[in-house]
Amino acid sequence: MSTSPATPTRGVLLYSGKAKDVYATEDPSRILMHYTDGATAFNGVKKAQIDQKGVINARISAFFMEKMASAGVPTAFERMVGDRDQLCKRVAIIPVEVVVRNVIAGGLAKKLGLAEGARLKAPLIEHFYKSDSLNDPQINEETAVLLGWARAWEMQAMREYALRVNDVLLEFWGGLNIDLVDFKLEFGRLPGDVSGATSVVLADEITPDGSRLWERGTGRKLDKDVFRRDLGDLSETYKELYARVFGARLT
Ligand code: CDP
Repeated sequence: MSTSPATPTRGVLLYSGKAKDVYATEDPSRILMHYTDGATAFNGVKKAQIDQKGVINARISAFFMEKMASAGVPTAFERMVGDRDQLCKRVAIIPVEVVVRNVIAGGLAKKLGLAEGARLKAPLIEHFYKSDSLNDPQINEETAVLLGWARAWEMQAMREYALRVNDVLLEFWGGLNIDLVDFKLEFGRLPGDVSGATSVVLADEITPDGSRLWERGTGRKLDKDVFRRDLGDLSETYKELYARVFGARLT
């Protein structure tokens, strides 16, 4: 059994992403996920620094990951360390992004020539191959299994977990008068357990960077589309969202 020291320290940089850096710790089974203020859109073509985004997203994601664990969805998240770092279990990321949609928007609207805004009869799950160089092409579950990216039961577990996450998020955002339009999840595999679905855990983040959140009544966007589509000040939007989630402004 591994033990995590009281205050894990950042070791070598394992991976530097668009909005997060991942560091090793003194415990090989744990990593520190550091949320930066970086924002990118269109696969890195558009870039900016957004004041306090890292702190806001780290806290929002921690809050949701704890909710998911309580709802029976295992996660890699363990706890916050400072205001931008999360101590997480080290996992092998499954290179399949899982998108859950409740309302037609974004890529789905574009691909099928549909207007944004119509509610789907039931949540729609889509899969994308996680590949920046290929621009995350859409795939189906069979592709993921046949190409060896995930086992069939892992895909099944990811589907079930994604729907459970959707239920929890729909209820939470609905309570704040916000429509959860869609969101993306990533899953990872814990090492040493290749026997079944129990090794699949929710990894990465649940934040407004990877979700679409529309204010009810006004339709105002409270997510990264504000940045992608130049609709206003993303930092102010995220600070407002933070205040709605936690009932107090970020200090
Ligand atoms: O965001 P975009 O229109 O490119 O693609 P989408 O398939 O409509 O995205 C669905 C949801 O997944 C949105 O909430 C996106 O923010 C999120 N997403 C993400 O976080 N990362 C990606 N690489 C693609 C989508």
